[in-house]
Amino acid sequence: MIMHPLSTPLRLREVELRNRIGLPAMSTYQAAAGNLPDPRWHLPHYLTRSIGMGLVIVEATAVAPEGLATPHDLGLWDDEQTKALAALADVIADQGAVPGLQLSHAGRKASRSRPFGPGGDAPLAEADGGWQPLGPSPLPFADGYRAPTSMTPAQLKEAVRQFAAAAARAATAGFRLLELHAGHGRLLHSFLSPIANQHSDAYGGDFTGRTRLLRQVVRAVRTTWPAELPLVVRLSVRDFLPGGWSLEDTIRLVPLLADDGADLIDCTSGGIARPETRPTGPAWQAPYAHAVRRDSGVPTAAVGKITTLEQAEQLLAEGACDLVLMGRALLVDPMLPARHDHSLAPAPYQRALATTTVGPDDGHLPPEL
Ligand SMILES: Cc1cc2nc3c(=O)[nH]c(=O)nc-3n(C[C@H](O)[C@H](O)[C@H](O)COP(=O)(O)O)c2cc1C
Repeated sequence: MIMHPLSTPLRLREVELRNRIGLPAMSTYQAAAGNLPDPRWHLPHYLTRSIGMGLVIVEATAVAPEGLATPHDLGLWDDEQTKALAALADVIADQGAVPGLQLSHAGRKASRSRPFGPGGDAPLAEADGGWQPLGPSPLPFADGYRAPTSMTPAQLKEAVRQFAAAAARAATAGFRLLELHAGHGRLLHSFLSPIANQHSDAYGGDFTGRTRLLRQVVRAVRTTWPAELPLVVRLSVRDFLPGGWSLEDTIRLVPLLADDGADLIDCTSGGIARPETRPTGPAWQAPYAHAVRRDSGVPTAAVGKITTLEQAEQLLAEGACDLVLMGRALLVDPMLPARHDHSLAPAPYQRALATTTVGPDDGHLPPEL
């Protein structure tokens, strides 16, 4: 079956993605004071990356100050942030892509420095603006990180409320797809995984206890996020440490999440603790998306080292996924979709695409020259 990623739309609830290529959430760590988008950075960044795309998911956006991973992340807990994020949703939609937003709580991975620059990717001391992270159990993410405060029932209730409130704000801002970040060791993943969750109360212990927080968040978000708009859950489908969350756990959980109101599962992996060794290679996580889709019947997105449209086409044709997310490849080469289909380019670029060669000179000159 031919399913060209650039010419096969995808319908999720009442939203149609014009094609099957999306940009996954990718933090740029450029937020202005107040955890606001910086118009000089975020507007051109997201405008450029919306050209020709079916979906653009704006980077991890914290539902509360303590849920920021770094002080340079976007946030969505006040009116000013809601208004500023509306400008991002607008530039993405204006290019014909569906504007998506990822909501996140960093959990025990909070209070870090951004990954670049001196002292990057390290826990932040209080003197440098760090704060006390929250988590299921007082177990640090890695050596040198603070042990998180084990969340009380009241704090868990508050986290659920924060996700639901931020989802309402995302709808007000004009986003048309919402992704909940339940991967990479962040709060919602940390509750799923026995590596981080040694709670013995209702939110820990067995599968039902460990999945309770995520399921409550999905159900609460469904009450504030409009019924006609899709809800995606990004899961680390497995940990890479002995005794961790497994692919079998994911396949058991996904139909429950679908009952709770999730429409698609974005299949990433790993990140629960350091050190860990992950495999890698071209499209290396796509077999996970395939297994989840096949065994749960719920639509999936594949992500991870997918760098060409040919790979994307093959994954769609194999039935590995319903949507292909290309991250780093599109960060560095955002014109990739439009180069393959000039009709996807904004009008001012179309003649340039038709007359400029990236390879050998084709002898065409624009009429102005
Ligand atoms: C710079 C950078 C920032 C990222 N930020 C996020 C993020 O905010 N949320 C998230 O879920 N994943 C994040 N990721 C992971 C990506 O969404 C994606 O899953 C990963 O890069 C693998 O896809 P790729 O090989 O196509 O880049 C980030 C990755 C990179 C390289």
